[in-house]
Amino acid sequence: MCGIVGYAGRGPAAAELFEGLKKLEYRGYDSAGISTCDRGEIFTAKRGGRVEELSPALKNLPGTVGIGHTRWATHGVANDINAHPHCYGKFAVVHNGIIENYAELRAELIAEGHKFASQTDSEVIVHLLDFYYDGDFSDALRLTCARLKGCWAIAALCAGFDGFAVTRHSSPVILGEGVGRFAASDIYALCGRAHSYCVLEDGDMAIVTPAGTEIFDRNMKAVRRAFEPLKEEYGDGGTDGCPHYMLKEIRQNARTMRATCDKFFSAVNAGELRLRLASADKIVLVGCGTAYNAALAAVRLLGGAYDCPVSAHIASEARYSPPRVTKKSVCIAVSQSGETADTLMAARIARDAGAYLLAVTNVGYSAITRIADKVVPVCAGAEVCVAATKSYIGQLACFHLLASLNAPDMRRESILKVADDVEKIANGGTYAEVIARLCVQSRAVFFLGRGADVDVAVEGSLKLKEVSYIFSDGYPAGELKHGTLALVDESVTSVVLICDEALAEKCVNAVEQILSRRGKVAVVTTLERTYDELKNRVDAAWLLPSVPAHLAHFVSATALQLIAYRAAVLAGRDPDKPRNLAKSVTVE
Ligand code: AGP
Repeated sequence: MCGIVGYAGRGPAAAELFEGLKKLEYRGYDSAGISTCDRGEIFTAKRGGRVEELSPALKNLPGTVGIGHTRWATHGVANDINAHPHCYGKFAVVHNGIIENYAELRAELIAEGHKFASQTDSEVIVHLLDFYYDGDFSDALRLTCARLKGCWAIAALCAGFDGFAVTRHSSPVILGEGVGRFAASDIYALCGRAHSYCVLEDGDMAIVTPAGTEIFDRNMKAVRRAFEPLKEEYGDGGTDGCPHYMLKEIRQNARTMRATCDKFFSAVNAGELRLRLASADKIVLVGCGTAYNAALAAVRLLGGAYDCPVSAHIASEARYSPPRVTKKSVCIAVSQSGETADTLMAARIARDAGAYLLAVTNVGYSAITRIADKVVPVCAGAEVCVAATKSYIGQLACFHLLASLNAPDMRRESILKVADDVEKIANGGTYAEVIARLCVQSRAVFFLGRGADVDVAVEGSLKLKEVSYIFSDGYPAGELKHGTLALVDESVTSVVLICDEALAEKCVNAVEQILSRRGKVAVVTTLERTYDELKNRVDAAWLLPSVPAHLAHFVSATALQLIAYRAAVLAGRDPDKPRNLAKSVTVE
């Protein structure tokens, strides 16, 4: 949520920062800005809109040091003035996070004679820097941070200082070294330019100049932090010939399943983990959005494999009514980015109450990995599209593998076999196109299923609304007659998932109920018999490869992701950057 970058080197800073911001744009894309410092003067360009809109202004930003920002608005609308950097006196500041006590700080500074330009919470930072500065830049930043409540990654320039300062509290900052020195909110922005990276610890401050980097801990004691080689595979690799990242990433679903299976047994001690889960008094999962939807699938998979209660909790709610845990409980935090503020907080609460914390995440250096007792890696690679696709599939693979430790009938080989089917679906698209067309012509789209299909229906609905902006809901087919049927008419499409033979007949009943109200129906099924029974009676039918019910979510979720993607494209939306959203939700 918001991306920050910093550069100190010998080359033109504006161009370096601009490249970094383009890579970080998925963290927020409603406004962007860059400040550079040259011969004691700060130069700034900032605009409402996408990063690209800064391009014409780059020529007006001289110097070889600077900072940049791409914004997801929290306080104040997206416009030129609220865009970062915020400048005051000798300083320019970019901020990722939220300053919770900004109103009181702002009032205090106004009373001191400071004039504010924007409506943002972030602007207080630059005023505090000015207030505390008495010739020592790092000391002013330390005193500033001591006044802040909330979460932040801050990069700052001070006119006359040939470098930048960067510090963090609950929001990520990665330093990079290559031809020049860099800082960024995540590693993707450094790929191709830095050869090594280092993740700053909470409370750290780095003073970065073209000549070197000094790092201080929260007590301002100089510390050494290890720089690791930055591998090319950490990069996003572009869209790989696809029109959008979303399509490319759906096409990487199978690869993610295989890579996740390959890595699992080297990443975890299977015996130890099995014992931990098998002796747990309960397993609680926390996550948000798609990660929560994956946790719903985990409830079924782990619930079938381990002899204890398993429950999934929306992290933003679990903070206020946390699931009760003991020292014998296992909490599984599910997060693609590993930085989602609500998930981190819910995981911390469970850990502090004594639970063993397992992190299922796609980002090996993320905040969640730092507080977890054990990390189960999702090997999806960089996921750039704001809508989670391959990471969801990877999370499902992790839950199958965790279940398989205690359930001999759930085998790694069967996941690999289904990966081949997933690959075929992801590379096709005709059926997805037909169903997507129905969706974009509809006033609303409902996704229904029974059993494990409900979890996929809920995720399919989230995906569709997120990228196409079509109103959508996902729910158990049995609930249709308890309310939603009131909304069904010829302008509404219901996508009915039927992937479990044992529940098929009951799902067909739901189809009948919708058809008799003249609702449109698209059936997505792995069952040939059901397909034959319904294909000529409904508006669209998609027969997926036949796979066992407990593995069907890999294929059906891939199909629904494709439907959402096609619908977004047909509706003229940008599926990679849906309006109002951002990839990594680091604010609560
Ligand atoms: C998914 O398509 C969404 N963009 C969103 O719901 C996301 O899954 C959620 O914000 C959680 O993110 P995380 O997995 O990085 O924690």
